[in-house]
Amino acid sequence: MSFLRLPATLTLLFLLASTLASVGAQQCRLVRPSQDLAPSPDNPFPSSVPGSGNVTSGSGSGSGSGNGTNTTTTLQPFEYGQAPVRGVNIGGWLVLEPWITPSFFNATNNTNVVDEYTLGQLVDRDVALQMLQNHWETWITEQDFVDIAAAGLNHVRIPVGYWSVPITSADTNYTTSVDPYIPGAWPYLLKALNWAKANGIHVILDLHGAPGSQNGFDNSGQRTSNPVWGVNPANVSRTLDIITFMAKEVGGLVDVIELLNEPAGFDGSNWASVISGYWQDGYQAVRATAGNSIKIMIEDAFLGITSWENFLTAPNAQGVIMDTHQYQVFNNDQLGYSEDEHINFTCTLKDGYSSYVDNNIWMVMGEWTTAMTDCATWLNGRNVGARWDGSINTGQAFGSCEGYTGNSSTWSSSYKTFMRMFWEAQVDVSEAASGWMYWCWKTESADDWSYQKGLEGGWIPQDPSDRMYPSICD
Ligand SMILES: *[C@@H]1O[C@H](CO)[C@@H](O)[C@H](O)[C@H]1NC(C)=O
Ligand SMILES: *[C@@H]1O[C@H](CO)[C@@H](O)[C@H](O)[C@H]1NC(C)=O
Ligand SMILES: *[C@@H]1O[C@H](CO)[C@@H](O)[C@H](O)[C@H]1NC(C)=O
Ligand SMILES: *[C@@H]1O[C@H](CO)[C@@H](O)[C@H](O)[C@H]1NC(C)=O
Ligand SMILES: *[C@@H]1O[C@H](CO)[C@@H](O)[C@H](O)[C@H]1NC(C)=O
Ligand SMILES: *[C@@H]1O[C@H](CO)[C@@H](O)[C@H](O)[C@H]1NC(C)=O
Ligand SMILES: *[C@@H]1O[C@H](CO)[C@@H](O)[C@H](O)[C@H]1NC(C)=O
Ligand SMILES: *[C@@H]1O[C@H](CO)[C@@H](O)[C@H](O)[C@H]1NC(C)=O
Ligand SMILES: *[C@@H]1O[C@H](CO)[C@@H](O)[C@H](O)[C@H]1NC(C)=O
Repeated sequence: MSFLRLPATLTLLFLLASTLASVGAQQCRLVRPSQDLAPSPDNPFPSSVPGSGNVTSGSGSGSGSGNGTNTTTTLQPFEYGQAPVRGVNIGGWLVLEPWITPSFFNATNNTNVVDEYTLGQLVDRDVALQMLQNHWETWITEQDFVDIAAAGLNHVRIPVGYWSVPITSADTNYTTSVDPYIPGAWPYLLKALNWAKANGIHVILDLHGAPGSQNGFDNSGQRTSNPVWGVNPANVSRTLDIITFMAKEVGGLVDVIELLNEPAGFDGSNWASVISGYWQDGYQAVRATAGNSIKIMIEDAFLGITSWENFLTAPNAQGVIMDTHQYQVFNNDQLGYSEDEHINFTCTLKDGYSSYVDNNIWMVMGEWTTAMTDCATWLNGRNVGARWDGSINTGQAFGSCEGYTGNSSTWSSSYKTFMRMFWEAQVDVSEAASGWMYWCWKTESADDWSYQKGLEGGWIPQDPSDRMYPSICD
């Protein structure tokens, strides 16, 4: 197999790598205090969750029926490759991100709390747990799933951190301590699986943070210039035990398990081969544990889909979906695009996407946005500025951030028109593959990244098959 061809987007990779280094460089290295074993979540497996621990086909639910009261119906398995995946990411819920919920981070009264790792280190554990529980209970509720279904969407992708997975010592020969992280989110995931089921929504369960950090981003749980997942075989094996546990506990309740979000394939050649080995081992582990119906999602690891030709294809593997993420805001080349160039660049992806699904496996654009700047406050990390306005100094700036993020009531109508076009172009190219999931469903104050605000503001249609610009990529 030729999955490690030289990436076509080498420049982009260097930019990404230097981005990671520059973000990481601004972080103080924090000393890890010795701590007692982390508390276990209360009642991690409420018996009210149907199918918990059991493997069934599909995720079980009443297609579009009901408001949460009807749990007797079954959802037909989603026909990947036939109908497009149309979905949103439930970002900033079970894995915190400072830019999605800045008020949570402000409420710590400690500017060194930049991610969940430092939250666990620097805030009194009881206080932090209480803050987290309040957040888990309020940031996403069943109403969100009702609204997601009403927006014509058929999928959610739910990120979880490894520290939230209540693996026991019977399930692993590695430690079950998640120190300094604060566990406790798992029961909320189980609730969400019920809400999804009751509202006819299919679920992609996404392991978003792995032991040692797979990319050093705050959204892996730990913002660090030295992520170590890919250089410690023990961290990778521990992750396989965690994935196996997830498959065992909720394999019958979700449509897809995504083995890991955004591992740093750009971080030296050894990471890329560790990642491809993990995809293969993770595939086997989930298949062996949860059977043949569940779908397994892998990720292009910043290497581009062309690096993953003939990888986990039939007849050696089946039911595998590639996830590719498409942002145009994290390097100066793309920040410099005019509005037309953003649309044009998007449209150039279409042929590659459709030939990938024709010749390989299903492929979903699992994260993307209508934002065209990195202006959203703390998008690049808490207390970190933006390349757009030069508050991250890259030697180049593009303008003021005013009118690009925050409350959409301050935006021009031409900007909103552009976002509608950008939304349609990205939907058009990803539906030439197997579909898409927008990042993300809601944000506290960055409307340019919020699907919910887009629906309210009209730059995202109420019915995702509506088109104002049907020939945008023709
Ligand atoms: C799972 O299935 C097994 C075998 O059918 C059954 O004994 C067990 O009670 C089920 N567990 C749950 C949580 O439904
Ligand atoms: C939920 O659906 C049931 C059955 O259709 C209905 O009787 C009930 O009023 C609904 N409840 C709410 C809160 O909408
Ligand atoms: C639950 O779903 C079944 C099958 O679709 C339907 O026959 C039944 O009326 C629904 N019950 C409620 C309370 O909505
Ligand atoms: C958080 O704190 C920063 C810095 O003090 C402030 O600019 C921002 O408005 C605060 N955000 C929220 C949501 O409280
Ligand atoms: C932060 O400060 C406020 C105001 O003094 C206080 O009410 C709150 O408990 C503090 N939060 C933490 C996590 O210490
Ligand atoms: C743990 O080690 C024992 C002894 O080598 C082995 O039999 C068992 O399968 C291992 N458990 C896991 C979860 O890998
Ligand atoms: C990652 O692996 C290293 C080396 O074996 C180990 O010291 C460390 O505890 C592991 N980290 C986690 C979070 O499991
Ligand atoms: C976008 O692509 C079209 C068609 O290839 C071309 O005519 C147009 O000049 C391009 N616009 C920009 C800004 O690159
Ligand atoms: C956004 O601005 C509008 C108009 O000024 C205001 O009504 C609304 O409350 C603001 N939204 C937020 C989240 O601050």
